[in-house]
Amino acid sequence: MIPLKTRKKTNQKMAIDEERSEVFIRAHSRGFPAYLEELEKEAKEQDVPVIRKGTQELLRFLLCMKNPVRILEIGTAVGFSSLLMAEYTKENCSITTVENYAPRIEEAKKNFEKYDKNKKIKLLEGDAGEILSKLEGKYDFIFLDGPKGQYEAYLDDILRIMDYKALLVTDNIFKEGDVLESRYALERRDRTIHSRMREFLLRLRDEESLESVILSNGDGATLSVKKWIKNEES
Ligand SMILES: C[S@@+](CC[C@H](N)C(=O)[O-])C[C@H]1O[C@@H](n2cnc3c(N)ncnc32)[C@H](O)[C@@H]1O
Repeated sequence: MIPLKTRKKTNQKMAIDEERSEVFIRAHSRGFPAYLEELEKEAKEQDVPVIRKGTQELLRFLLCMKNPVRILEIGTAVGFSSLLMAEYTKENCSITTVENYAPRIEEAKKNFEKYDKNKKIKLLEGDAGEILSKLEGKYDFIFLDGPKGQYEAYLDDILRIMDYKALLVTDNIFKEGDVLESRYALERRDRTIHSRMREFLLRLRDEESLESVILSNGDGATLSVKKWIKNEES
């Protein structure tokens, strides 16, 4: 950390320390219901991935702004983010969430049984790619938080089911910072996911029916809004 005085003199930029920003966000957050805080804590203790505080805040904000009625989530894990979305949407909202890892599916089912008061959440078990290819109807909010190497492969189906003005939110696009590095700076085994994530980001940029923005908070996220759907240019 560069001391403030030195930074001012040298005009050096401060690298944001993620742990510090997480603590800062927590300190300035309205907080979340106790059951969500508890679920998050349990998940972390068991090394189950859950969205970070910054993404939790972002989702809550976007849901309030957008007021979606049909949400799709790829990557349920134990159901933390699905429950968060259920908490901050109106009663007429349905949430479809997809997970393929059996032990997490069992946990998610228990959590939904216990906390999904208005029975908004429907869990689809299986491979997200296969399920996505069969989904019908339109969604107005899609949260992509599944296998990072598949985002690009999922995009055609996602575009197909995005309604006019639908919002696509993707999480962890920096992949713990790897995606920001040159691929040659990475271990060979991390290079495929690096290339695929970059391809995904380029496709978001070039996709004419979307307007997208990269957010650099947490592990990086993207927001994309569907500007038009086929034969309904606006
Ligand atoms: C980052 S976690 C999701 C965290 C969750 N959204 C939350 O914040 O509570 C990603 C999940 O995607 C699941 N996943 C990975 N590959 C998948 C696939 N091909 N189909 C469905 N789910 C998959 C993993 O098992 C993991 O639970």
